[in-house]
Amino acid sequence: MLNKENVIEVLKDVIYFPKGDNIIALNMVENLMVNEAEIRFDLIVEHRDDPKNEILVNAANRTLKGVFGEVNVDIKVKEAETALSKVKHIIAVASGKGGVGKSTVAANLAIALARANQRVALVDADIYGPSVPMMFGVDEQPACFERDGKTVMMPIEKYGIKLLSIGFFVDTDRPLIWRGPMATSALNQLMNDTLWGEIDWMVVDMPPGTGDIQLTLAQQYDVTGTVIVTTPQQVAFADVLRAAMMFREEALQIPIYGLVENMAYFTPSDQPEKKYYIFGKETGKRFAEQLGVPLLGQIPIVEKIAECGDHGTPLALDAESPVTKAFDAIAQAVINH
Ligand SMILES: Nc1ncnc2c1ncn2[C@@H]1O[C@H](COP(=O)(O)OP(=O)(O)O)[C@@H](O)[C@H]1O
Ligand SMILES: [Mg+2]
Repeated sequence: MLNKENVIEVLKDVIYFPKGDNIIALNMVENLMVNEAEIRFDLIVEHRDDPKNEILVNAANRTLKGVFGEVNVDIKVKEAETALSKVKHIIAVASGKGGVGKSTVAANLAIALARANQRVALVDADIYGPSVPMMFGVDEQPACFERDGKTVMMPIEKYGIKLLSIGFFVDTDRPLIWRGPMATSALNQLMNDTLWGEIDWMVVDMPPGTGDIQLTLAQQYDVTGTVIVTTPQQVAFADVLRAAMMFREEALQIPIYGLVENMAYFTPSDQPEKKYYIFGKETGKRFAEQLGVPLLGQIPIVEKIAECGDHGTPLALDAESPVTKAFDAIAQAVINH
């Protein structure tokens, strides 16, 4: 007999092989409607464009018609809602080396994107050395609550940006000594157990190097692109090349939006019209050419950048600063990519 209970029983014969169980047990069937002429339901999948979806829809169709005869079967494929399903772009700010200004660029780029009327999140993926708490002057803990038996976090909002950092939960004065798997699981929690809501650009401030965190982010998340930060020294660039090679690996293939040359030149505060290119004027341009990517911007050495970073007010908040213009241009390049 054609009724809801029997349809559910029959659908238990439809197996989703990647997960080794049937679609009822896997909670993949929602909004089931049954009447004498029609069976209708939503099939909840992880990725809408997965070719396996069609195989599954056909299998369900065949199985139902095999049992109930010439009934009309209407199956809609829907993507499961996840913490990140309304996040349009994920952009990783990376480099091979520590201390080149990744966090500074990530924070100021986030501010510039927000000024360009984008909805922005900033995730501090530097689990071992988080800097978002200090750069944004946040010393409170995000609100946590239970939803569907799971603890979820609310990001902290400052300057219109949704922020999350492991540093909100731990004492950042002490170094975090974590084993690789713990660090990646911390990153996964920040990404997946948070009510991000609708976000145009999620900027991810990466730890230095090409380790577990980078690989996890690149493999498990839909990273739209990366912005690579370098300083004009050759040693910094050697590490940048290594990082770039990782993102370009065949299995990952994450586009590199371009290079940001940080500490490109020095301008003394009493001679704002002077630019001293200590490591050569064309260095950033040459590095970008070697990588085959655009040079998105050159950020000077300015004491104020460090000062503002230490006081929770990223310099790009200051509309008068020339540094702000550079970050606005980088933000535009990212948006137009
Ligand atoms: N353009 C700059 N001018 C002056 N100081 C800078 C500049 N960029 C970064 N810094 C300072 O250098 C230090 C390292 O920068 P940070 O962004 O934390 O690097 P990373 O995240 O790559 O380790 C910080 O103290 C920061 O304030
Ligand atoms: Mg950093």
